[in-house]
Amino acid sequence: MRATTNAKLLSWVEEVVAMCQPDRMVWCDGSPEEYDRLTNGLVKAGTFIPLNKKKRPNSFYCRSDPADVARVEEFTFICSANEADAGPTNRWADKDEMKARLRELYAGCMQGRTMYVIPYSMGPIGSPIAKIGFEITDSAYVVVHMHIMARVGRKVLEVLGDSEDFVRGIHSVGAPLKDAKTPDVPWPCNPENKYITHYPETREIWSYGSGYGGNSLLGKKCHALRIASVQARDEGWMAEHMLILKLISPDGAVKYIAAAFPSACGKTNLSMLKPTIPGWKVETIGDDIAWMKFGADGRLHAINPEAGFFGVAPGTSMKSNPNAMRTLSANSIFTNCAIRPDGDIWWEGIDGAPPEQLADWLRREWTPECGRNASHPNARFTTPARQCPVIAKEWENPAGVPIDAFLFGGRRATTIPLVTEAKSWIHGTFLGAIMSSETTAAAAGTVGLLRRDPMAMRPFCGYHMGDYFAHWIRIGQQAPAPDKLPRIFYVNWFRKDDQGKWLWPGFGENSRVLKWVVQRCENRVDAVETPFGLAPDENGLDLSGMHFTAAELDTLLQVDRAALLAEMDDLRAHFAMFGDKLPPQLADELETLGRSLKG
Ligand code: GTP
Ligand code: SPV
Ligand code: MN
Repeated sequence: MRATTNAKLLSWVEEVVAMCQPDRMVWCDGSPEEYDRLTNGLVKAGTFIPLNKKKRPNSFYCRSDPADVARVEEFTFICSANEADAGPTNRWADKDEMKARLRELYAGCMQGRTMYVIPYSMGPIGSPIAKIGFEITDSAYVVVHMHIMARVGRKVLEVLGDSEDFVRGIHSVGAPLKDAKTPDVPWPCNPENKYITHYPETREIWSYGSGYGGNSLLGKKCHALRIASVQARDEGWMAEHMLILKLISPDGAVKYIAAAFPSACGKTNLSMLKPTIPGWKVETIGDDIAWMKFGADGRLHAINPEAGFFGVAPGTSMKSNPNAMRTLSANSIFTNCAIRPDGDIWWEGIDGAPPEQLADWLRREWTPECGRNASHPNARFTTPARQCPVIAKEWENPAGVPIDAFLFGGRRATTIPLVTEAKSWIHGTFLGAIMSSETTAAAAGTVGLLRRDPMAMRPFCGYHMGDYFAHWIRIGQQAPAPDKLPRIFYVNWFRKDDQGKWLWPGFGENSRVLKWVVQRCENRVDAVETPFGLAPDENGLDLSGMHFTAAELDTLLQVDRAALLAEMDDLRAHFAMFGDKLPPQLADELETLGRSLKG
């Protein structure tokens, strides 16, 4: 049944049908009945195992193919007419050549399968900041995920009407069946041929071969960051890899903070943190992506374009993140963690002693003595944001929330202090541009390698990173008044001591840093100048009840000048990559940093 008369949409869908040759075609309506029908089908196919209804109602357990467990940056492409438009941080391919290669792979790739057309809105349907997209996919797993992660269904088609303003996404697991009777595997994919390709000029996404996370849920990283960052550049707004939180101080004052940390570096946790300092409260707006526009009040207003959380499971517990644990008490999907004999999930770091026996993410028997992890480090939960017990009442406000502060941060065992504040918007843009972090299991590849990840956008910026820096500077210049721009801070929860132990307890204790951020925004505490920015003075941070030796505090809070000075060559090489696209203001900031480290 066709639910639209949009001619452009219909002809595109027909083209994809002709290319991919599915056995059946379904227009998704986003209804609970559709969700139930699809999850039942996934259970029958052996992809999903229903979890114990008493422990975790309406929830499912899933194991992917071991060759398909994370985003694949190596096979992620920005495809434009000119290579210079992708820039040095992206893989570029000529748009026509890449499409020709993919057309060959897509030819008949949905044989024996059902093709789903998913109309979705990133952002509350009809919000002036929201955008519409369509994902055509042959994966029912993707459809049920999109039900949770985006707003899906008929209302999207109604709002779109006959407009051509939508992102076109095609996704296939790349595993055709001879016919509908050919037996399938629980997790079809094509490990030899993975392509996650983006065509920013025509707002298209073609993805092939992977069914996992950001590779296949095209509304998320592909649309809401890679394509949207290009639209944001063209239209004067911002699409960022940022959580959004609402912070309420004991006197009832409200601040909104957005924070950019690289993948698996603490966004979900910070976005719903339970403060350890009395009287403070955090509520959640979003945990991964922020779209921001200047409002009539001259301030940057942010919406969360997503509707669910696709969060890192290992390490999540009632102790580290109780609000996440409560969010996923029902109606959730768990991929690549372990399953207990009682039909509930388990992962490293979850509450309680490990059970005597489990089935691990590779379908093997597991015991606490076996010496292996039971869950994959990038095991994830998928859960509706509205179930979060601290979701802010304004989280779906179409006008967004006014942002008071940005945080940048990454995993740095050394060198970078717990918190510093940028001296200006340009200095903050500079700190974002030199951000660095140890790599994590969120992307395929080696874990723990230090790399520059500007604004946590290195894998997600859809155009030349030098132009992206210039866009940040332009946003600063466009602000109706400089004091209405968010203040910018740089944080590091991940400093370690010589023995490799965390120096900072993190999680709920990060509220102490948030308190300092708020007090700085209200000009209520002084700060001391350091080469890296403005730092808390000796009484600046509320550390009441914590126990640090003087040496520990020193390491935690001080800029390690020698270590930073030793990074100058690497920083110069990092900036040199952007050639004449590097804004001169950032080159100046780097030389200022170099001088002040020597001085
Ligand atoms: P993506 O979904 O990949 O974008 O990740 P994210 O940035 O949302 O990271 P998330 O909050 O899921 O945290 C990733 C891992 O870091 C989890 O295993 C957390 O337990 C751990 N983590 C989060 N916050 C902290 C912290 O403050 N300190 C320490 N030591 N670990 C943390
Ligand atoms: C990330 O890697 O930043 C994620 C997970 O949020 S994925 O959706 O796979 O991109
Ligand atoms: Mn993310």
